[in-house]
Amino acid sequence: MFDYKPDETLDTPERYRQLCDAADALTEGESDAVANMANIAALIWEFVPDLNWAGFYRMGTNSDGEEELVLGPFVGRPACIRIPLGAGVCGAAVRERKTQLVEDVHAFAGHIACDAVTQSEVVVPVIREGKVIAVIDLDSPSAARFTKEDADGVERLAALISARI
Ligand code: SME
Repeated sequence: MFDYKPDETLDTPERYRQLCDAADALTEGESDAVANMANIAALIWEFVPDLNWAGFYRMGTNSDGEEELVLGPFVGRPACIRIPLGAGVCGAAVRERKTQLVEDVHAFAGHIACDAVTQSEVVVPVIREGKVIAVIDLDSPSAARFTKEDADGVERLAALISARI
C-alpha cells in the first residue's frame, strides 16, 4: 500500500518537496509513461489542497499531422480532449515554454473552460531534451489560489519526471 498523505500543517515549499520525493519514489524504475502520469496526478491531488482538477496534457498530433495537446491522466471531472497550441492557458504554456500562473481564468483571453467551477489555474510545461512534451495543469475553485511557490513546486516536479513520462 502507498500511503503518501501529507501533514495538513506543511508550508507550501515543504509540501512540494514531499510531493516530489513521493513522485520520485513512485516512478523510479517504471518505464510506463501512462502509469507514471496517473500516479503523479493522484499525488498532486493528495498533496495540493483546494483543487478541482490536476493532470496532464501530452503533445500529440491532429488529423493533419499538426502538433496539439491531447488529454492525459488526471484527477477531476472529464475535460476537453484536444487543445490546439494556439489555444487556452495550456497552449500558451507550450508556445511560450513558460509557466502560466492565472489568478483569474475569466480575465485570461482564450481560456478554455472545462469546468465552470474553475477560478484560477497554473500550467507548467514539461520539457525533455529541449522540447515541450507535455504540460501539468492544476485548476482551483478559488480565485488567485496559486502563488509563485506553487509554480516553483510544480516546475521542480516537471523537471523531476520529464524523463519518466
Ligand atoms: N483551462 C485549460 C484547459 C484544460 S482544463 O482546465 C482541464 C486551458 O485553458 O488551456
